[in-house]
Amino acid sequence: MGINYKNEKLRSRHVAFEILLYVHKGYSLKEAFSGQNFAALPDEAKPFTKFLVTQTMRYQNVFLMIFKEYLQKKPQNKSIKFVYTILSMGCCELLLSQQKTNITLSSYTEITKIDKKTNHLSGIIRAVLGKIDANKEAIIQQYLTDYQNIFGSELYNHLKAHYPETITELCQALLQEPVTDILKLQDVPTPSGYQALLPNLMRYENGRRPENLGIFVDGEITIQSFASHLPIYCMGDIKGKKLLDLCAAPGGKTLQAIASGADVTAVDISAKRLEKLHENLKRTGLKANIIQSDVLEFSLDTTDNDPNANKDKFDIILLDAPCTATGTIRKNPDIIQNFSLDKMKKLQDLQAKMLHYASTLLKENGVLIYAVCSLSPQEGEQQIFKFLESNPKFSVIEPPCVAGLDPQIIDSNKFVRLLPYHTPDQGGQDGFFVAYLKK
Ligand SMILES: C[S@@+](CC[C@H](N)C(=O)[O-])C[C@H]1O[C@@H](n2cnc3c(N)ncnc32)[C@H](O)[C@@H]1O
Repeated sequence: MGINYKNEKLRSRHVAFEILLYVHKGYSLKEAFSGQNFAALPDEAKPFTKFLVTQTMRYQNVFLMIFKEYLQKKPQNKSIKFVYTILSMGCCELLLSQQKTNITLSSYTEITKIDKKTNHLSGIIRAVLGKIDANKEAIIQQYLTDYQNIFGSELYNHLKAHYPETITELCQALLQEPVTDILKLQDVPTPSGYQALLPNLMRYENGRRPENLGIFVDGEITIQSFASHLPIYCMGDIKGKKLLDLCAAPGGKTLQAIASGADVTAVDISAKRLEKLHENLKRTGLKANIIQSDVLEFSLDTTDNDPNANKDKFDIILLDAPCTATGTIRKNPDIIQNFSLDKMKKLQDLQAKMLHYASTLLKENGVLIYAVCSLSPQEGEQQIFKFLESNPKFSVIEPPCVAGLDPQIIDSNKFVRLLPYHTPDQGGQDGFFVAYLKK
């Protein structure tokens, strides 16, 4: 049975609460937002729900530190996720928003009462949030001004070790709201309010989502961040080239490569993410050869629908490898909680294997593009240096096309190294690494 909310704002908060519980079950933010309750919210209510979810995720580490001080007794195991989630959202509103305190306090008490099983916790939730509000200024000063608290020691120290001089700038940029860019797949006029970043790439200043634009529904544009645009954009003219897109789903770069005239074979292991790629191809009317496979098992002479399609090696291979994705923390603040050096090490091993395997599928004189949305040199620069040591047939080349790019994003090794604090006047960027390797 549907819940009768006292008002729409309470509904927005409750949907945010449900999304956060989903994330705590291990789903990604993207998956959690794709549920029906969020989709059913009126459009004008969605930004508040998004704000609550993303800000709560960004500052989760700090909120947990605050509860250690302000919750006298650790909640019982069966209610721990409930209590921490409700209190975190309350903290988020009290410390990081302009909501009226009495409304915040009564809203979270109401949400606690929605379910009979948690009804008895309403008193404690109200009392703790009241105490936090009473000490608001001191709490902000003590906890929210220290990036190590916000990012956690492991991630913060890791970033600081690699960006010692710009660590403050980097942390500030990673805590900003993300921007949304759109890619023109066809020659359509730039919609009003959008700013051209590159010939086919545009940005809306206020983070408006483009899904409701007619040209999106008609498949003439797609969502693609400036960072994700670079690997194919910097490859220059790829018309008529045979391109293998490894780790392709949901397919932003696949669409870009097809629209740029390449003959694309796209491979990914995930059936669910490939479904998105199929949807994207259907919406845009573009065509590619799609194969569900582990990259390490992809073979040149097997494809789903054309046994001869891959007999010859590829002119260009794009390997957009799985990584810690720390460059996308603005969009995916759950990465702050999920990052660990152990996980990174496992990803590094996989990236190295994929890079080596991909290199065997490339034609002589072909170009292997290696990309990761990670800020860590271990997943980027160092991965390439190691690869070159054991693959002397390959060398790093300058990105073939750099027209319209800020020269600071190409480093002295000829790598593209985009950082979140680059181009602040445009709203910053996702962090990204790209290397072009010629065989
Ligand atoms: C960074 S995302 C790719 C984004 C995509 N290139 C785009 O532009 O939309 C990494 C992808 O690697 C895929 N992946 C992870 N391990 C894989 C493996 N062993 N073989 C093939 N794909 C894999 C994931 O399913 C995920 O879709």
